[in-house]
Amino acid sequence: MSSLSVKAISSLNAEFSVPGDKSISHRAAIFGGLSNGVCEIANFLPSEDCLNTLKAMRALGANFEVLEEMDGYGPTLLRIHGKGMKLTAPEAPIDCGNSGTGMRLLAGLLAGQEFTSELFGDASLSSRPMGRITEPLSEMGANIETLGEKPGCAPLKIHGSKVKPISYHLPVASAQVKSAVLLAGMFAEGITEVIQPAITRDHTERMLTSFRVSIRTEGEKISLPGGQTPESLDFRVPGDISSASFWLVAAAAMDGSRLLIKDVGLNPTRTAILKVLGRMGAQMTEIVTISDGEPMGNIEIKGAPLKGTTLLPEEIPNLIDEIPVIAVAAALAEGPTHIRNAKELRVKETDRITTTVENLRKMGVDVEEFIDGMTIHGGSQLKGARIKSHGDHRIAMAFAIAGLFASGETVIEDTDCINTSYPGFAHHLDAIRHERTKPEDFILPTTIR
Ligand code: S3P
Repeated sequence: MSSLSVKAISSLNAEFSVPGDKSISHRAAIFGGLSNGVCEIANFLPSEDCLNTLKAMRALGANFEVLEEMDGYGPTLLRIHGKGMKLTAPEAPIDCGNSGTGMRLLAGLLAGQEFTSELFGDASLSSRPMGRITEPLSEMGANIETLGEKPGCAPLKIHGSKVKPISYHLPVASAQVKSAVLLAGMFAEGITEVIQPAITRDHTERMLTSFRVSIRTEGEKISLPGGQTPESLDFRVPGDISSASFWLVAAAAMDGSRLLIKDVGLNPTRTAILKVLGRMGAQMTEIVTISDGEPMGNIEIKGAPLKGTTLLPEEIPNLIDEIPVIAVAAALAEGPTHIRNAKELRVKETDRITTTVENLRKMGVDVEEFIDGMTIHGGSQLKGARIKSHGDHRIAMAFAIAGLFASGETVIEDTDCINTSYPGFAHHLDAIRHERTKPEDFILPTTIR
């Protein structure tokens, strides 16, 4: 089991890009595999989560070739051969690893297939709620058995069928559930509708539009006529703003620092973190370089003394994955930061309210825990500590950032999990820790095949 050791730094002055977006890479593998031809996908994220989805699509008949690889991880440039919506039954159960997105999206896809398949994952994924997808998918006509020890949990045995369209009010603001229903709806005759309680990340809608599938968004309602085949296209995945957030927080909280994150996704359903850091006092400039499809561009941030803030209820779905690192920013800011309406954090890779509060307290931070969030009283010196990631990539990375500000040494235990979303994080952390400034120090080695 690997670990990371971190000590305080005195300056941060760097320019680099982070690997591809996780949410978009999952969808590129799925829609590329469903498309009517060959798609070249650039800047694919070779993280364990996305590689599992790519392998799942291969198990369903959509083969891929690797054109370029991040050394030691997997493909960053690949060519996927779409099956024109005609998938084949997998020979074995499909491993989704640690990925809730992978399992829930694939379940939607498999619900509409006229064969039986099985999805399984690791211990964390096997304890996460699947009722939120099995309910609407059953309403559409699929028969899904939840075989886990915990009721309503994976493994999932999916007896797919000719599904029928539904109009579904999401009980939770979840892009995964929305996407699962829409994916099943692609195989239904008629119009599938999803009505969200709040706006969630819209990568599925944007990517389907790019693949020339007609899909309509009116406010919180999305409607999709079934029976359309995505038209193959070449696609570039922007950098992952959730991965960039770790460095944005480090730079924002370090007086005198300057950081330029290049070619990162700036989809407005993902950028609430920037608004929050702005409210906390960070000096930031956003330059959009590509505005159609998935917007992307550069973010420049300069460090300044931070002050506490209150996360707005409508911001929560937009920054749910960034809350552990926002909590670290809050610990470094003067005054209280209030995070509420975030009960969803309890059903992520770990219960992120518990794991964030526990680790902040270990570092000497005064935190109050609530059922749906926490209040962090920031501004005191962080103390180095031994941090348990509990196998959660975002907890591991958030507390590595905290270690850059703490007295003494911070050791993050069990850091292999970081590969589920950010291959190359240790390389970037090493460059930051040694206060390197040259862009080439941040390049993640790749090999052309
Ligand atoms: C994701 C949606 C979010 C997010 C996850 C990725 C997606 O989950 O936490 O990391 O790609 O659709 P929910 O939609 O369940 O909140």
